[in-house]
Amino acid sequence: MDKLWGGRFRKATDKRVDDFNSSIRFDKRMYRQDIKGSIAHANMLGKQGIIPKEDADAIVSELKNILNDIENGDVKFMIDAEDIHMNIEKILTDRIGDAGKRLHTGRSRNDQVALDIRMYLMDETADIEEMLVETMSTLVELAKRNVDTIMPGYTHLQKAQPVTFAHHCMAYYEMFKRDYARLKECRKRTNVMPLGSGALAGTTYMLDREYVADMLGFEGVTMNSLDGVSDRDFVIELASCLSIIMMHLSRFSEELILWSSNEFSFVEMDDAYSTGSSIMPQKKNPDVAELIRGKTGRVYGNLMSLLTMMKGIPLAYNKDMQEDKEPIFDSIDTVKLCLPVFCDMIRTMKVNVDNMRKGAKGGFTNATDAADYLVKKGLPFRDAHAVIGNMVFYCIENNKAIEDLSMEEMKSFSDIIEDDIYEAVSLETCVNDRNVIGGPAKKVTEKAIKKAEKFINSIDIAED
Ligand code: ARG
Repeated sequence: MDKLWGGRFRKATDKRVDDFNSSIRFDKRMYRQDIKGSIAHANMLGKQGIIPKEDADAIVSELKNILNDIENGDVKFMIDAEDIHMNIEKILTDRIGDAGKRLHTGRSRNDQVALDIRMYLMDETADIEEMLVETMSTLVELAKRNVDTIMPGYTHLQKAQPVTFAHHCMAYYEMFKRDYARLKECRKRTNVMPLGSGALAGTTYMLDREYVADMLGFEGVTMNSLDGVSDRDFVIELASCLSIIMMHLSRFSEELILWSSNEFSFVEMDDAYSTGSSIMPQKKNPDVAELIRGKTGRVYGNLMSLLTMMKGIPLAYNKDMQEDKEPIFDSIDTVKLCLPVFCDMIRTMKVNVDNMRKGAKGGFTNATDAADYLVKKGLPFRDAHAVIGNMVFYCIENNKAIEDLSMEEMKSFSDIIEDDIYEAVSLETCVNDRNVIGGPAKKVTEKAIKKAEKFINSIDIAED
């Protein structure tokens, strides 16, 4: 096949180089953005009188046909046409001849690919934002059902203080809310139109860049042609946002894996979201959660690939940058795969309320509250800490919980202890007295849930 750039060559490209150079295998997924961009560019060329109006019209209408044909599966892309940009241009010129050859006036593949990838990432980011909203509302639903489900909170994976499962879910709500905000921010920075940067140094044609930006729904245009073709910050930024999303999914997955173990038995995955063993008949494995945790690795890897790929390349475009696509596409695909399955998994899992409560009862999760009880009776906190430390030691020796001690035993540690200590160290008091803003108390959690619901609903209305 003749190359679109074949004029200065006297020899055909080596077959192996054709294969090596070609990106059509993976960049064909940007066909819609490429065609949309070309339609805007052609319209602008016609409007500015840079190419004849009839040619612009012919280009635009044939590009629409090509789009249709691709969507119907009637177009075969060619490896030796290298990438999606030249494939489409080649099909266009094969179909409409000279008019088609005028499309690339005042444009380079360097600004064309920069445009396509920006548009593609913005479309995908909007999809992922929607999935995050779904994730947030799933967590809020789960929280709503569990405001009274007391469970142990941990530090160092050692039982620390009692919380509720609702409070735990709402912690993840906060994380995904930040992820959502980060994606929106990232989309803002991606939302600038690079066409007109040319190969690297702009162009001598009187392009109307703002008109193209408007037609494509961009908020502005890039302000430096060198940067316009060689900036991939937005790709890296998105890869980073996606990594953070995976990190959050992975942390919850890890907890759910632990909690599914016989030792914890805090949750049980629905049969539809777990798998068995080919040899051990009793097994029910939390594979979905494990796979989400595992897939986090490839998303982190993609971020590292992108950072490393970019770090040594001089301005402006270099072919290295073709390597931006597979990693970011893979990160997008992975996150889009994980978020919905994660939602379904947590929505359907069984929460073992009794076991969570039992867990909270053991391990002296009310020791801080016992110390606080003494403080409220006038003891300095450090002294109270020591008294209760001794009490805990005694309990361990005698295999008792704090609330199991008789009044006589209690008094042997401090004579200011009275009957009301039993109430003060009950799990309900421990949770519900923690009523600062952001605390696990039922009333506070219910407020947080209301606020979250309001936020989620406001997104539905205001969503652009
Ligand atoms: N396929 C290329 C990429 O993804 C398009 C730009 C190629 N430009 C060039 N001069 N080789 O980066």
